[in-house]
Amino acid sequence: MMELDYWVQPGLTDWSQYQQRITEIHKKLMNKEDSYTGWVDWPLRMETELLQDLLCTAEEIRQKCTALVVIGIGGSYLGAKACIELLQSPFYNEYYAAQQKRPRIYFAGHHLSTIYYYELLERLNNEEVCLCVISKSGTTLEPSIAFEMLRGYLQERYGQAEAAKRIYAITDASKGTLRAEAEDKGYKTFVVPDDIGGRYSVLTPVGLLPIAVAGIDIEAMLEGAAMACREYDNEDLSSNVCYQYGALRNLLQQQGKVIEIFEVYEGRLRYFTEWLKQLFGESECKEGKGVIPMSLQMSTDLHSMGQFLQEGRQIFFETTLTVEHICKDVSLEKSQFAGVARTMHELNLIVEDSARKAHGKNQTPNIRLTVSELSARSFGYMVYFFEKACAVSCYLTGVNPFDQPGVEDYKRNIKIALQGEKC
Ligand code: PA5
Repeated sequence: MMELDYWVQPGLTDWSQYQQRITEIHKKLMNKEDSYTGWVDWPLRMETELLQDLLCTAEEIRQKCTALVVIGIGGSYLGAKACIELLQSPFYNEYYAAQQKRPRIYFAGHHLSTIYYYELLERLNNEEVCLCVISKSGTTLEPSIAFEMLRGYLQERYGQAEAAKRIYAITDASKGTLRAEAEDKGYKTFVVPDDIGGRYSVLTPVGLLPIAVAGIDIEAMLEGAAMACREYDNEDLSSNVCYQYGALRNLLQQQGKVIEIFEVYEGRLRYFTEWLKQLFGESECKEGKGVIPMSLQMSTDLHSMGQFLQEGRQIFFETTLTVEHICKDVSLEKSQFAGVARTMHELNLIVEDSARKAHGKNQTPNIRLTVSELSARSFGYMVYFFEKACAVSCYLTGVNPFDQPGVEDYKRNIKIALQGEKC
């Protein structure tokens, strides 16, 4: 389902030099030797009862409200946002939600923009509202303050008891203030598995509940992830494209290519690249090592950052995420370009190819990852592909893929600033 093509300096990809390390990493990952490696076999072991509970709860939310506010940040936000942007209509909130009898989805807790919250509260007055609050730690500032405000809003509007029925909490099984409050007030809850960290959690209730509410087929998504899980349980680097991609990142890093630029020509993948930036950035960029992930959305950014790609410092490589078939493709039959492209998607692929040829003049290394289609199944597949490739790339770089000491530092400073807590 994922094809890998790449251009790097000739002679660079002698996979045999990596095979032994890949074999060791493969064993380490598949035996789940490190903490937070529960995602490795999660698509194969997630219980059917949990899936049913998620589907029933999503239906209950759909019946109860016309607007669901999903509160979370980082790994508790980006996966669901990426998936809904990718698979729902670009006009979902303004048009299709009502037509499909599903709630509009709003996100909160991922910033502190006062104007956004001011207007969100006004906007919600015209809706029946439910909240889905997601925080593994249950203590992160941005979602905590958003939840406090929105919970207050619900309680004022519906009363304490009814508000509690409209709140869905996804958090740790036992730790954190959100868990304690959920138990106390009787919110419906789901657990973030102990052995899965935030940025690897989109295929758990963290991503699955909001995604299911938006009407996306989460069973198909898990099937896609399970397919990737089986396909890449293979230590042979010459045939495992997921491991090849992880190894390519490492190889290019050693050549001084310290930035990976994720490029998408299909706009609906924009938030998927935000998810990728978090996955690779938090997992690999530590101890002064790692490849910095950046993202560009084309054609828009060809007309700004295209200049840097063409003539800037060549310290980067490009990774293009391409889609082979688009189901809702616009015909160009009557267009002036009909002779070269039958559809808008075909035209988009021509633009992609032209940019690649232009950047090729500089011998900029480029990687092209192609998925056959945009679907729930391919989303699950891509998530697993990148999670595993990221873990492999981190181990090759020599860092722990599953901690985020830099992020914890800033969280600690916030605690100190707010509560005068000692480090
Ligand atoms: O990947 C991670 O661990 C982080 O990005 C977290 O998901 C993010 O900081 C949010 O944390 P929490 O879910 O505890 O509120």
